[in-house]
Amino acid sequence: MTSRPADPNQTKFVLTEDRIPRAWYNIVADLPVPPSPVLHPGTGQPIGPADLAPLFPMALIGQEVSVEREIEIPEPVRDAYRLYRPSPLFRAHRLERVLDTPAHIYYKYEGASPAGSHKPNTAIAQAFYNKQEGTKRIATETGAGQWGSALAFAAALFDLEVKVYMVRASYDQKPYRRILMETYGASVVASPSPDTNYGRAVLAGHPDSPGSLGIAISEAVEDAAIRDDTKYSLGSVLNHVLLHQTVVGQEAIEQMAMAGEEPDLVIACAGGGSNFAGLTFPFLGQTFRGGRKYRVIAVEPEAAPSLTRGVYAYDFGDTGKLTPLVKMFTLGSDFIPEPIHAGGLRYHGMAPLVSLLKDHGDIEAQAVHQGRAFAAAVAFARAEGIVLAPESSHAIRVAIDEATAAKATGESKVILVNLSGHGHFDLAAYEKYLNGSLEDYEYTPDEAALASLPKVG
Ligand SMILES: Cc1ncc(COP(=O)(O)O)c(C=O)c1O
Repeated sequence: MTSRPADPNQTKFVLTEDRIPRAWYNIVADLPVPPSPVLHPGTGQPIGPADLAPLFPMALIGQEVSVEREIEIPEPVRDAYRLYRPSPLFRAHRLERVLDTPAHIYYKYEGASPAGSHKPNTAIAQAFYNKQEGTKRIATETGAGQWGSALAFAAALFDLEVKVYMVRASYDQKPYRRILMETYGASVVASPSPDTNYGRAVLAGHPDSPGSLGIAISEAVEDAAIRDDTKYSLGSVLNHVLLHQTVVGQEAIEQMAMAGEEPDLVIACAGGGSNFAGLTFPFLGQTFRGGRKYRVIAVEPEAAPSLTRGVYAYDFGDTGKLTPLVKMFTLGSDFIPEPIHAGGLRYHGMAPLVSLLKDHGDIEAQAVHQGRAFAAAVAFARAEGIVLAPESSHAIRVAIDEATAAKATGESKVILVNLSGHGHFDLAAYEKYLNGSLEDYEYTPDEAALASLPKVG
């Protein structure tokens, strides 16, 4: 049994460096239903390690298919984690007072990493394994620029070259993210780009394309597939990426114990699903092993609502249809989401592991318009001081909604929310919100994109 802290105003729950987890938690070991196989796009048959070898180092392929509950974190990765881990857990006393809620709100804050988000948790691991297996250069995509910054940072630590295909909408909205990546040593191009066959094909049909994560992934995969010195790296969706993020939830479990509370609700935003998985999988694992049940909510944008309005089907991870087929909630790989400011949430699909849990009823999902997300982020900034990334703003919206509902019912529930990044490079979006020119976009199903879902036996 844990006890409440002696000081009821304690605000930060901080772990020492020796509490950085020693293993990642693999939820596959505890899943209530087995995951669906990943299929080869040509044959429709389950893929094997050899199919993935041109793109990823073998250590990551091994993690992708592992059923071990714990996977040891290599010491050089833990050592790099020391630069910013363990990340702090905060009790949002001031926000609670502003909302006048009986709810207790805790937030795990990943925005204090060097790159500004949770993304280095996997970028460091991926850079390490690539270096270990002799990779010289990594190609990747980035939406908001957070993932590209994280990989550029991690690659600098392990002396690797990086080429980043940055979604055109974000490239134009966030020049400082590009400069940050270049400062770390990466080379960055707007996607669709003239540098790949796929990029050139998209530009031929749509010279003004705002791009999408799906298009940028195709470009980065093509780049890696045709060069011997280059591997591909993905910042979300895949099992091994979600795995690396579980340091977040493992620390949070320990920090909630320091606070002497158990969350009733665990909330996180979900683009490809890695930040959501990072916080929630260790909690869900406890439930699956016979422990306490939590309400777990994934928050996505109304403009790309894969979990709430998509179909659960096999689909490509990218728009160029180069990737293997995975079973996931999808809006169709040809769907191009409107250019909302939460670039990291502009994705047509969702991680297969997160999709499986949604389909099985273990987690809930809610979709939020960006205007309401920014309203919550501004309230949060004025109460707690942190200016959140637009992606994280979606999560704080739902946390505030739940705390407000608790006020109406008088329930004293405990809310834990993962705040994945800071918004210091997103101030143009805040300005739009503040001057009333921020637009909301309704999702209209793209029937052609849904009709072109691959047919799988
Ligand atoms: C700050 C931030 N939060 C959340 C996300 C969403 O990605 P994921 O669902 O993989 O965590 C991103 C993606 O770029 C991001 O930059």
